[in-house]
Amino acid sequence: MNLDWLKRYMPRGLYGRAALILIVPVAVLVLVVSLIFIQRHFEDVTRQLTHGVVLELREVIELIEAQPDLDAGLAASRSLTDTLGMTVHTAAEPLSGDRRVFYDVSGREVIDTLRDGLDGVRAVDLRSSSRHVRVQIGTERGPIDVSFRRQRASASNPHQFIVLMATIGMFMTGIAFLYLRNQLRPITRMADAAEAFGKGRVVHYKPSGALEVRSAGRAFLDMRGRILRQIEQRTLMLSGVSHDLRTPLTRMKLTLSMLSDEAEADELRRDVEEMEQLIGAFLDFARSDQLEDPEPVEPVALAREVVEKAARHGGDVTLWQTPAAEETVILRRAAIERALGNLVGNAQRYADRALVSVEMRERQVIFCVEDDGPGIPEDLRDEAMKPFSRLDPARNQDRGSGVGLGLAIAHDIARRHGGNLRLGESAEMGGLKVELVLAR
Ligand SMILES: Nc1ncnc2c1ncn2[C@@H]1O[C@H](COP(=O)(O)OP(=O)(O)OP(=O)(O)O)[C@@H](O)[C@H]1O
Ligand SMILES: [Mg+2]
Repeated sequence: MNLDWLKRYMPRGLYGRAALILIVPVAVLVLVVSLIFIQRHFEDVTRQLTHGVVLELREVIELIEAQPDLDAGLAASRSLTDTLGMTVHTAAEPLSGDRRVFYDVSGREVIDTLRDGLDGVRAVDLRSSSRHVRVQIGTERGPIDVSFRRQRASASNPHQFIVLMATIGMFMTGIAFLYLRNQLRPITRMADAAEAFGKGRVVHYKPSGALEVRSAGRAFLDMRGRILRQIEQRTLMLSGVSHDLRTPLTRMKLTLSMLSDEAEADELRRDVEEMEQLIGAFLDFARSDQLEDPEPVEPVALAREVVEKAARHGGDVTLWQTPAAEETVILRRAAIERALGNLVGNAQRYADRALVSVEMRERQVIFCVEDDGPGIPEDLRDEAMKPFSRLDPARNQDRGSGVGLGLAIAHDIARRHGGNLRLGESAEMGGLKVELVLAR
């Protein structure tokens, strides 16, 4: 059986689901049992009470019929009816059928019992007064109207029971919910900590709650610690190696400048420069690991800065399509600047013109860089994002060569913000379209 449609109507949060699991079965059980019980109980009580009234009425009718006419009969039964709390009159006008309000459930029982127990019942009226029952009976001496208090025929205030039950039920549910919330809070706190870590933020978290939740929390902490240590090691190694390489490089440069053979020296000098560039890129990559603290940033202003900086260096880069309202988002400013700078730098290197746009979604900020270059074919896009990967050098002729870290760094930074780097084809410009997606 396919129950997928049902899922749409179910609560999605843990609290809602737990409440549903806890409350619905109990509520249904109590409701069904009490409805059946109440109905049975009140039907029985009403029938017994009304039956008592029927016996009394038989007595009264017998007294009336023992007299020669109705007036004498009424006079003879007066003292009995007074004692019983009934009023008996000669029927003024004929009543038209039995009458009761539709929700008067016990009223049906009253009417049935009266009609079963007495001959000559013409009509029972429960509607004109909620506190009295009016019965019209045809006796051998003529029709009479009898009126007595409703209390005598059916149990009063059956709703008290329901009100009491509902109040206690709500009270107990409230208490249960408080307990439930305390049990669920550790889970939501762990989810928050995990979500924050996914976005690169390390928030304080201490495992608490039930045994299973606590052990899951401890496992999460272990995992987080291991990942942090690994990042630290990678950073240390990269920056250490790069740093140590610089000293011999400088020495090489010095020696080179003293060499007399110009042709040979030139070649070597170019190699040394390339190595310097490489080391610079390594250091950049290593730095992208270091987590600065997130701060409120205006994405549009940040994009404008990057674009202006690129334009100052002679690039044809334009900012277009920005959201109307300038909102601030919590981001790591320097990291995003570096990522966006890499993308714009690529566009300048591999294409002539570039467009930068910013899009704000409910849960995401998207920076988009498009260019009119050759683009990257779909099957090479994953490859291009890997560290140190440069695509087919023929494509990059006379564009100067990079290290192959630009996209990898941007990808890393996006993931640290709980987002992603998406490569595609620009519909606008025909070249590459890179989307830097960040969670907000
Ligand atoms: N806008 C683009 N248009 C066409 N190809 C691109 C574009 N951007 C990147 N590429 C291709 O993807 C490869 C990887 O890019 P990436 O930015 O990671 O490295 P790089 O630009 O070669 O070096 P670096 O950015 O580290 O100096 C590039 O070598 C290039 O072939
Ligand atoms: Mg690059």
